[in-house]
Amino acid sequence: MCGIVGYIGNRKAYDILIKGLHRLEYRGYDSAGVALVARDGKINIFKTKGKVENLEAFCADKDLGACTGIAHTRWATHGEPSDTNAHPHYSEDGNIAIVHNGTIENYKVLKDALIQHGCKFHSETDTEVLVQLIEYIRISNKCSLFSAVRQALKQVVGAYAIAVVAKDKPDTIIAARQSSPLVIGIGDNEYFLASDATPFVEYTKECVYLKDGEIAEIKQGESLRITDLDNEESEIDVTTLQMSISQLEKGGYPHFMLKEIFEQPDTLRDCIRGRVVDRGHRIIINGVSDNREVFKNAKRIVIVACGTSWHAALLGRYLIQDMCRIPVVVEYASEFRYSNPVINKDDVVIAISQSGETADTLAAVQIAKEAGAFVFGISNVVGSSIPRETYAGCYIHVGPEIGVASTKAFTGQVMVLTLLSLAVAQLRGTMTDDQIAQVGKCVLKIPTYVKRVLETLNDKIERLSLTYTYARNFLYLGRGYSYPVALEGALKLKEISYIHAEGYPAAEMKHGPIALIDQEMPTVIIAPKGHVYEKIVSNVQQVKARGGNILAIVTDGDTEISKIADHVLEVPEMPECLTPIITSVPLQLLSYYIAINKGKDVDMPRNLAKSVTVE
Ligand code: AGP
Repeated sequence: MCGIVGYIGNRKAYDILIKGLHRLEYRGYDSAGVALVARDGKINIFKTKGKVENLEAFCADKDLGACTGIAHTRWATHGEPSDTNAHPHYSEDGNIAIVHNGTIENYKVLKDALIQHGCKFHSETDTEVLVQLIEYIRISNKCSLFSAVRQALKQVVGAYAIAVVAKDKPDTIIAARQSSPLVIGIGDNEYFLASDATPFVEYTKECVYLKDGEIAEIKQGESLRITDLDNEESEIDVTTLQMSISQLEKGGYPHFMLKEIFEQPDTLRDCIRGRVVDRGHRIIINGVSDNREVFKNAKRIVIVACGTSWHAALLGRYLIQDMCRIPVVVEYASEFRYSNPVINKDDVVIAISQSGETADTLAAVQIAKEAGAFVFGISNVVGSSIPRETYAGCYIHVGPEIGVASTKAFTGQVMVLTLLSLAVAQLRGTMTDDQIAQVGKCVLKIPTYVKRVLETLNDKIERLSLTYTYARNFLYLGRGYSYPVALEGALKLKEISYIHAEGYPAAEMKHGPIALIDQEMPTVIIAPKGHVYEKIVSNVQQVKARGGNILAIVTDGDTEISKIADHVLEVPEMPECLTPIITSVPLQLLSYYIAINKGKDVDMPRNLAKSVTVE
């Protein structure tokens, strides 16, 4: 939700800010803007509705010479996407400018008070309230910019990551965070600032992640100064980034989404590396082995997540219950936080989030911690809030995921949940060594099998997608392990092609959705070999009997469903618990090609943002 970039140094700030905004566009693309602070004390603000490319076109004939600046790409919360509501916002006297990611919950009260003091507002945003408040404090209290920002933030209720510049401080950016991410890159006589480290990874690997409640004075030629809102100095923790620039580029693919789908053999290998040892006989998840007693004695596991991560969580329930015989509850984080949840001290709460910044999941983590549960995080983004706020955890190690529709992160999450389940089963003795080794050996083959699926099915799916592009509704059905895969397949299609799609447990179809079935509505059935295979064959027949058009994902060599379905996509045979990773790949490709056929922007689908840091 909104991306922030800042730069201060000797280079042309505009170039760095624009490149950085492009990298952060996954966070929102309703409008974009920059504020450039020239050394002679002039602030130039340029902003437009739409994507960063619109901003570039708008700026083509503008004065862009400055070595300090802040920039923003917006996912609208307060006020429609428009030039006026675009960031940066500025104080009425034009002396200071701000970019903001988050929401100021008490902005109305603050706004009314400022109106009483004669302030006038131009936009509908909560952010304009904050910048006016800062300038009001700076003038009335005759204090420094740093102090004014600090005092203003003490009055704010809500979430924010902000960057503030002032005309009379061309060598300074003030930054602060509360519940929205912000990281400062430390270069050679230059500083960078961004919502994540991707905008500056080619300039420096040294960075400092701001913590909640911290405020930083970033001044060229001086050391960083970070305090809390009471002005107590904070310790500065410098982190070295592991990310590389090639991970942030398309590498010859037309879209990040396709690149990320095709990266899965490698990302899954990275995810497994060092965790499946002795040729599959032993599974090591450090977050589990470091907390043996917790996992040994856990009475229940509660998994919280949102969106695609919630689908991975549902698979986690099947995996953990099957392998570890521990009862598992899966909750949408947004529902969990307001449901007065019953959490016990011997519960383990697992929070899953690709970004590690999803506001609802983060709030669920806090609630679980307050209730005394052991909280374990599964995330992709190193140093993000959820890994920092949880007691232990596990990274999925799939590299930056830029496409808004999650693909490689989903398979990484499912892989980590599979390994976690095996590790806990090993610990609790709920699977024999032989059973562990059987699954462990197959886990090692998954990257090769996913590669095979991509090689054998990509062209076929591209061709087949033409048949399905103009359907207006889709039904996705699966049972057992394939049910969450059906949900995820339907979500992928919705997100990027804007076709309505419903995921359903196949047997539930006859309790309602069967009424929808006709020749116009394709049904995608996920039916690999497994203990419910015969049951799903009946469901396939039920759809066919109503004239439905069926696309089925089946195991190599399947003869039964192949006879009934209109089209089949065959995937390699795997133990049932490992099929979701394999069967979800053709569904990712199907949604990708349908969206391409419809001319949609697959990497930046309308209304979505990758990191949802608002409620
Ligand atoms: C996935 O394709 C979606 N863009 C979305 O559902 C996402 O999974 C959800 O917002 C949760 O994000 P997180 O994993 O970063 O917490």
